Amino acid sequence: MDEQHKRLCAEVANRRTFAIISHPDAGKTTLTEKLLLYGGALHLAGSVRAKGGGRHTASDWMEIEKQRGISVSSSVLQFDYAGRRMNLLDTPGHNDFSEDTYRTLSAADTAIMLIDCVKGVEPQTIKLFQVCRMRGIPIVTFVNKMDRDGKEPFELLDEIERVLGIPCSPANWPIGAGAGFDGVYDRLASALLRFDGGSRSERVAMHAVDWDDPDLREAAGAKALAKAREELELLATAGNAWDRERFLAGELTPVFFGSAMTNCGLHPLLEHFVELAPPPRARPTSAGTLAPDDAAFSGFVFKIQANMDPQHRDRIAFVRICSGHFVRGMNVKHVRTGTPLSLSRSVQFMAQERTVVDEAYSGDIVGLWDPGVLRIGDSLCEGAPVEFEGIPRFSPEHFVRVRLDDPMKRKQLKKGLDQLSEEGAVQLFFDRRRLERDPILGAVGVLQFEVIEHRLRNEYGVRVRFDRLPYRFARWLEGPDLDQDKLELPGRQSCVTDVEGRPLVLFETEWLMRRAEEENRSVRFISAVQPGRSSRSAA
Ligand code: G4P
Repeated sequence: MDEQHKRLCAEVANRRTFAIISHPDAGKTTLTEKLLLYGGALHLAGSVRAKGGGRHTASDWMEIEKQRGISVSSSVLQFDYAGRRMNLLDTPGHNDFSEDTYRTLSAADTAIMLIDCVKGVEPQTIKLFQVCRMRGIPIVTFVNKMDRDGKEPFELLDEIERVLGIPCSPANWPIGAGAGFDGVYDRLASALLRFDGGSRSERVAMHAVDWDDPDLREAAGAKALAKAREELELLATAGNAWDRERFLAGELTPVFFGSAMTNCGLHPLLEHFVELAPPPRARPTSAGTLAPDDAAFSGFVFKIQANMDPQHRDRIAFVRICSGHFVRGMNVKHVRTGTPLSLSRSVQFMAQERTVVDEAYSGDIVGLWDPGVLRIGDSLCEGAPVEFEGIPRFSPEHFVRVRLDDPMKRKQLKKGLDQLSEEGAVQLFFDRRRLERDPILGAVGVLQFEVIEHRLRNEYGVRVRFDRLPYRFARWLEGPDLDQDKLELPGRQSCVTDVEGRPLVLFETEWLMRRAEEENRSVRFISAVQPGRSSRSAA
């Protein structure tokens, strides 16, 4: 092995690329902040929060996110922790952005699943968990807010196993609960760890103590200590044994208990997480499995975002590097178009700050300045062209007709909608006979329309109104005997085309959709397609 390849292997082995998945309010913002704090990327937790109730981390940049206190766009943060290079992908917590989240998770190697100990497994947790499962992403569970009186630890484990169908193996166990939550027993390290309290906005390590430590006894209470010991004995005999292979296969989740807010339990979570989380894995491609330490650079675009910085008016394509070494200025092949591409303008992000990236390795995410040639799912390669597993576009469930206030702005509207649809922020459909000039927008969640309206106004200077359409289902159509006129049912069922000219039909009800399928058996009704490639059935 030459020196260069040795370095590549060492860099790849050092990478941890992960996402945090949770239901809104479970504590993702708080945990993200603490990760940055403990990793030394932030000096004081809380410093990135807006005063006066607005909540946002360093990873939020869009104005609408600040206004609504939600994270709309997925961003990427890089920091070092315990000598490891961590890439944290921020996934939007809101239900309406599941498509964006899905795309982001395609770039992650591990996920931290946050559960609020008071609320247990919540609807958005279930959805996100299922995406991770589909993608075979290993999951580390963090039961948060243990400083509050929540459900019993055994009850929570049972709920995770029952609702999500994944066996749990507690990596640590809480000592005390609510106000008396004073430490954890680290089952992986066989150590009882006490938390001294201290400032919530500073790094606080925990230290090992004996079961008869007087301070612990006083803080947690003798009863809580006895209960924890009993529970640990029970776990030793009846709990799921830790099995790293099963965890990596997504068949077992280690569970940590703690409080992102008070810091109790945080340090052991992070220390173990960097070791448990796998380095970048081999990925399936059109030309077989590709190892992350393969010398030739390759990667895929999982996200595109225009106008991230209003002062720059630019468009950034986020690329997950899957093999090799990225060097700014390198020439690669853009596989979809077969054309060469020079990767000269590359950036990384930390809040509003962007830094030029000169070098990056498999597992890292780089933002590429894109003049408009890249699409979500596109592969970039240095060696033989390979395509990575595609990122499907889901069939939308909400539809509106765009109405333009000022007809003189039609050009700007077209530009805005073209760019937003390329970003994947919304799907764009047209009347197939072009009788109706105004396009139709389709979204997986209704909040997406609000974002589009806001961004059209702020970034493109176009005011629009949306007329709700009654459709709830969409299917792309494929087949030799396709007669679109036969599928028209005014006001209830309508044939349109997507931006790539593919036909699809919108239905008002599921019943109409089923009927159309039955009456047109030679036509394939498809619920998810790969952008830029021929359509295929949803997995
Ligand atoms: P999210 O990004 O998942 O939506 O959650 P976020 O971190 O914003 O946390 C939601 C609320 O839960 C916040 O309270 C936050 O302080 C609180 N929280 C997070 N972690 C913990 C924890 O470990 N223990 C307790 N007790 N609370 C926690 P808030 O009142 O909505 O906002 P704030 O005024 O505290 O910022």
